Amino acid sequence: MDLSIKSFEDYQKVYQHSVEQPEQFWDTVASSFVWKKKWNKVLDWNFKEPDINWFVGGKLNITENCLDRHLADKGDQPALIWEPNDPEEHHRAFTYKQLHQKVCLFANVLKNNGAKKGDRICIYMPMVPELAVAVLACARIGAIHSVVFGGFSAQSIADRIQDANCSMVITADGSYRGTKEVPLKNVMDDALVQCPSVKRVIVLTRSRTPISMIKGRDVWWEDEIKKVETLGMLNCPAEEMDAEDPLFILYTSGSTGKPKGVVHTCGGYMVYAGYSFQNVFQYQPEEVYFCTADIGWITGHTYIVYGPLAMGATSLLFEGVPTWPDAGRFWDIVAEYKVNILYTAPTAIRSLMQFGLDFVKDKDLSSLRVLGSVGEPINEEAWNWYHEHIGKKNCPIVDTWWQTETGGILISPLANVTPVKPCFATLPLPGIQPILVDEKGEEIIGNGVSGNLCIKFPWPGMLRTTYGDHERCRVNYFATYENLYFTGDGCMRDEDGYYRITGRVDDVINVSGHRIGTAEVENAINMFSDVVESAVVGYPHDIKGQGIYAYVILSRETDDDELTRKDISMTVSRIIGAIAKPDKIQFVSGLPKTRSGKIMRRILRKIAEGEVNSLGDTSTLLDPAVVDEIKNGRLS
Ligand code: PRX
Repeated sequence: MDLSIKSFEDYQKVYQHSVEQPEQFWDTVASSFVWKKKWNKVLDWNFKEPDINWFVGGKLNITENCLDRHLADKGDQPALIWEPNDPEEHHRAFTYKQLHQKVCLFANVLKNNGAKKGDRICIYMPMVPELAVAVLACARIGAIHSVVFGGFSAQSIADRIQDANCSMVITADGSYRGTKEVPLKNVMDDALVQCPSVKRVIVLTRSRTPISMIKGRDVWWEDEIKKVETLGMLNCPAEEMDAEDPLFILYTSGSTGKPKGVVHTCGGYMVYAGYSFQNVFQYQPEEVYFCTADIGWITGHTYIVYGPLAMGATSLLFEGVPTWPDAGRFWDIVAEYKVNILYTAPTAIRSLMQFGLDFVKDKDLSSLRVLGSVGEPINEEAWNWYHEHIGKKNCPIVDTWWQTETGGILISPLANVTPVKPCFATLPLPGIQPILVDEKGEEIIGNGVSGNLCIKFPWPGMLRTTYGDHERCRVNYFATYENLYFTGDGCMRDEDGYYRITGRVDDVINVSGHRIGTAEVENAINMFSDVVESAVVGYPHDIKGQGIYAYVILSRETDDDELTRKDISMTVSRIIGAIAKPDKIQFVSGLPKTRSGKIMRRILRKIAEGEVNSLGDTSTLLDPAVVDEIKNGRLS
């Protein structure tokens, strides 16, 4: 069944229907997928607990939708194309038939090594096709994958493995990113010291750097594949999963405590990933689609692996970085593979803009039809550059707003369907009911208004829980405003009813499109031996969107401020990962606190932003003098 929306009138009709009769609407959408058994009920829900069940009683396996169902018509079409870090190295491509075989083989490797339905498996791998294979192989046997981005530290990996009580790890010896080689297995070994639950580690060969291999625990991917081949275990039947069985866990930062394991389930996630992919990008048969994200983030899960494959698309995955060997790398890839749809992040666009047009001007970008943006608000300059120099003013830009928790895109133009407006995520997808509320949770009606963005009705791709701690899920997302899912984002709705996301309203910073909790960074800084206390806020950063500004109180004078800053950064790198390193560290003797001891972050934010003359009311401060000291010592 063709579920593509073809025109704006069509969108308006479908949207209306999806709001008036959501169950009927999603019933039709879900029916276009392959199920082992049809559901008895489309939806059963309440946002109070929350308890959300889509396609109740339905049975399926997502990999049958991503692989098996395409074999007859699209078996010889490339499913994945892989561009390695080094352009001199051979690229690889896998047809749907080949990918199906590889997933079946590796699924049998997992089984052979003791993995079974419901087990949690941590994946820490480079951006190579085997990463997608590992993800799909877990789904094939019903194991729950927890992919950890390659830039996280051993401590972060250990926290995630322990939280999910993973029994197995899939990793690689090393990975390449531009000129850097990352020793993945070494980092994993450091993490595993703290993880007795892990009984088996499967290691893919990528960089063939020397690594330790522990007898009885560590095995090579290639050896294990040979074993199952020798045993003739070439096919692997897809495990029957309940629609509400967990498919994966993905950790994401919030405003408090350690990252939360967001849980997505098999049926609803699949339906939403496929439906949103098809409609936002308006994918046409045989097109090449290139999402530049890493599979370690939700964008890679939904829009490199599951969404495109569910819809039989050709998905390109890239191991390297946009600026190596030079700042024309994306454009070389677009030209070489005749990419039709490019989906990237504002931070990548801003970093490439800096290099000027020399790296763009001779590149053949004529294959491009649709451009996408994700992860953070896109500023007007970046939007215009993308539109003019990459899209040659011919390609719609779909500014897609969503979150790890939402599973897929919620607010976005549909390419060539929704009239776009620079920097606006525009309108909700069918089935999505956004509302804006004020601080008290009262709905803000009408247009030309701003407020906190909430969603008032469930959609199939939404999170169901946070792993091992359902109460945390309730408190974080469903308790701020009664009967609403709270996104944590501020938003305006203009005169035309178009939505523009203005950024987080909680203590989460968006650095280069990555979510970082201020509390997490503070905890890491506080682990440095000479730190008494710290406070972290975001500030506008030309390339990263937001940078990390840390105010730190030390227990003694430093001999060398710069060296101490580096020591603190190294500590943060060790505890969280290089992505969380502060951009600026200002040493202070005190922090602005209320009489009840609460840090006034509003003031610290203003100072970090350079708005030192508009600090607002400081009369409730315990010690107003501290503000002058901080203002005077501000790092520009
Ligand atoms: O603040 C919003 C911002 O990124 C947050 C979600 O981050 P994460 O879960 O890591 O997922 C990123 C990829 C989907 C949101 O709460 N955000 C995401 N997309 C946009 C955005 N802000 C503005 N415009 C967007 N298009």
